[in-house]
Amino acid sequence: MARSKDSESKSADATEIPGRLQVEEGIAWLTIDLPGKKVNTLSSVFMAWFDQRLTELATADHQALILRSGKPGTFVAGADIEELKAAKDVAEVQELLRLGHAMLLRLSALPYPVVAAIDGACLGGGLELALAADWRVATESPKTKIGLPEVQLGLIPGLGGTQRLPRLIGVPAALDIILTGKQLTAKKALNLGIVDEICHPSSLSEAALRVAARGKRKKGKSIGKQGLAAKVGDLLAHSPLGDKVVYDKARSGVQKQTKGHYPAPFAAIEVIQDGLGMSLEKGLERESEAFVELVVSDVAKNLMGIFFMKNAVDARAAALAKKGRPVERAAVLGAGLMGAGIAQGLAYKGYSVALKDRDFESLGRGVHYVAERFEELRKRRRYNEVQVKEAMARLHPTIEYGPLEHVDFVVEAVFEDLKVKRQVLAETEAAAPVDLIFATNTSTIPIADIASGSRNPENVIGMHFFSPVHKMPLLEIIRHPKVSEKTLATTVAVGRAMGKTVIVVEDGPGFYVNRVLGPYIQEALWCLTEGARIEEVDAALSRWGWPVGALTLLDEVGLDVGYHAAKVMAEHFGDRLDMPSALQNLIDDGRKGRKGGKGFYLYDDGERQGPDPKVYDLLGWTESSVPADEISERCWLQMLNEVARAMEDQIITNPEDVDIGIIFGVGFPAFRGGILRLADHVGLERVVERLRHWESLKGHRFTPAPMLVEMARTGATFHA
Ligand code: NAI
Repeated sequence: MARSKDSESKSADATEIPGRLQVEEGIAWLTIDLPGKKVNTLSSVFMAWFDQRLTELATADHQALILRSGKPGTFVAGADIEELKAAKDVAEVQELLRLGHAMLLRLSALPYPVVAAIDGACLGGGLELALAADWRVATESPKTKIGLPEVQLGLIPGLGGTQRLPRLIGVPAALDIILTGKQLTAKKALNLGIVDEICHPSSLSEAALRVAARGKRKKGKSIGKQGLAAKVGDLLAHSPLGDKVVYDKARSGVQKQTKGHYPAPFAAIEVIQDGLGMSLEKGLERESEAFVELVVSDVAKNLMGIFFMKNAVDARAAALAKKGRPVERAAVLGAGLMGAGIAQGLAYKGYSVALKDRDFESLGRGVHYVAERFEELRKRRRYNEVQVKEAMARLHPTIEYGPLEHVDFVVEAVFEDLKVKRQVLAETEAAAPVDLIFATNTSTIPIADIASGSRNPENVIGMHFFSPVHKMPLLEIIRHPKVSEKTLATTVAVGRAMGKTVIVVEDGPGFYVNRVLGPYIQEALWCLTEGARIEEVDAALSRWGWPVGALTLLDEVGLDVGYHAAKVMAEHFGDRLDMPSALQNLIDDGRKGRKGGKGFYLYDDGERQGPDPKVYDLLGWTESSVPADEISERCWLQMLNEVARAMEDQIITNPEDVDIGIIFGVGFPAFRGGILRLADHVGLERVVERLRHWESLKGHRFTPAPMLVEMARTGATFHA
C-alpha cells in the first residue's frame, strides 16, 4: 500500500493553508489549493507556506517533486494582483520579488527532478513557477491556457519569465509570447518546447511521473518543433547582429502596435536582451529593476484599474444574470449586418436561432455572413469542420413568423424606424408565446417608445450591440421604466452567454455610448470645418491613443447612420448638440462612407485611398492651422462633458460602467484608464477651467456640465 505522510503543521489554521505536501512512494506531491478561492494565485500566504515547504524539501531525498493544483481546470492563474496593487511602496514590491526569485531558484536547485503538472490556466506567475521546474506536462483540456499576460496590465513578467522563457525556447518565440501576452493551448506550448508532454486530464499524474523519470534536466534549449527560422533567430539574438535583426525588429513592431503609449513591451525587450548577456541571477535582478519601475507607472496603474473595473462590472452582471429565466431557443429579426452578426454569436454559443428577414435575398445575404464568420473560426482552428456544420445546423433561416412559435427570446435588428420596429413587434407577438422577451437592437430610438406598442411592455428591452458583433466586446442593455427585473436579468444572462461585457443603462436618446460618442465626433467635424485637414484631424486623435481618428470612424459607421443619430440628439438636446453644417453638406452630396465608396476618404473596392479633396469644396473650406493638441483636447473634453450630463440624467451612474463602456464600446485609449479616470488624473478643477476656456472661444457647446462644476468646487473625484 502507498505510504502517505502529510507534512502540514498541525497547529496552523486549516482554512489558511494554501496547499498540501504529501509523499507517496518516494514522490513528493505539492498540491496548490488556496482555500475559499476559485483560482490559485501566488498570494503572499501561499509564498510563505511554499517557502517553508522548500526548506523541508531541500533536505529530503525524494525521487521527484510534482507541483499540481487542487482545483480542477486551473493550475495557477498568476500573481495576486490585488496584493500588488495594495503594496505600500516600491520597497515592498522589491522585497516580494526578491523573495519570489530566491524561492524559485531554490525550487530549481532541488537535488531531484521537479515537474509542473498543469491542468487549466497556467498564466503569469503560474507559468513562471512552472518554468522553474525541470519539466512541464499539460493536459489537452480546452481550459489549459499557458502564457505570460503581464504586458496587458502594463507590467512585465516579474518572477523570472523574461529570463527563463528565452533561455528555454529561444528569443524569437519568447518575445512573441511576452510581447503579446497571448495564451497558448497545451499543444502549441508543446510545439514551442514550453511543455514536455501533453496528456488527457485523467492521466496527468501518470504523465508527470513519466517525465520525472527522465531525471534532472540538463541545461540547454528545448525548442520543440520550432522551425529553422526560429533557431536562426535565436542564434542571431545571441550574436552582435542581434540588435539589428531581432530586437530592433521587435521594437519597431511594438512601436507600430502601441504608438509608443505602452512602455511595458519595450521594457520586456530590453530586459530580455540585457539578461541574456548575464547569469540567470543577474538577469533576474535586471528584471526586478524594470518591473518596479513599471509597477508605479501611470499606465500600469490604469491598466490594472481596468482589470479590476472589468471584474467588478462582470461580477455585478453575473449576479443579475442568476435571476434570469432559462433561454434555449432564440430568434433574430432582420438578417442585415447586425442581425446576422447577433445570430452568429447566438449559434456560436449553442443557442438554436431562427433568423428571419422579409425576403429570401436579404436572408441569403445574412446566412452567407454567418457562414463566413464560422469559416473564419475554422481557418483560425477555433472550430473544426464538424463544429461548423453543427453550428450552422442551429441556424434556422426563415421569412415566415411560424418558427417563432416556440422561441423564448427575440432580438430585433430591422431598419432603424419606429414604425417598422413597432409593426415587427406586433407581428412577433401575434406568432410567439405570451411571455416572449423582445430585445431591440435599436441604436437611437427610445425603448419606451417601442415598448408602448407592446401587449407586454415589461418584456421589451434594449440590447445594443456594437459592430462588428463578433469582434466588439461590449453590450449595452437598456431598461425603461416598465421593464421587469426578470426580463432584465434574462437579457443580461443571454448577453453574458454570448461572451459580452454587459453594462446596464437607462433609456434616453443615444442611451449611453452613442450619446457621448456623438459630441466627440462632432467636435472633430468642427475642427475640420475650422481649417484642419482630414488627415490632420484623424492623426491628432490616433496619436492621442484612439484606435482610429473620428473621421475614419464616421466613414466606417456610415455618414448616413451618423447623420441620423446626430439629428435625434439635436432634437432632444437642442443647440448644445447642433450638427455642424459639414455633415449636412456631405450627406447632401450622397456620401455614406466606406460602404458607398466615398466619405471623408475615397475607397476603391472597400480599400481606403487618400482623403477626398472634394470634401473641402463641399465645406467651402480654407486651410487654417488647428494644433493637434487642441484637436485631441477639445474632442475628449466634449465627450467627458456629455458623460457628466448622462450621469446627471441618471442614464448611467456607476463610474466603472462609464469607463468600461467607453473602453470596450468605442476603444477609448486603455492606457488612459477610462474617461473618468483621465478626468480624475487631470483634476476636475483643471477640466472645468479648460472647458471654460473653450466655451469663451467656441461657445455654448463647451459650457461645463453642472456636475463637473460642483465636483471641481468640492474637490471630488469620480473614482475612489
Ligand atoms: P441593415 O439595413 O443591414 O439590416 C436591416 C435588415 O432588416 C435588412 O436585412 C432588412 O431586410 C431587414 N428587415 C427590414 N424590415 C424587416 C421586417 N419587417 N422583418 C424582417 N426583417 C426586416 O441594418 P443594420 O445595420 O443591421 O441595423 C439594424 C438595427 O441595428 C438598426 O436598428 C440599427 O440602428 C441597429 N444598430 C446598427 C449598428 C450598426 O453599426 N450598423 C450598431 C448598433 C445598432
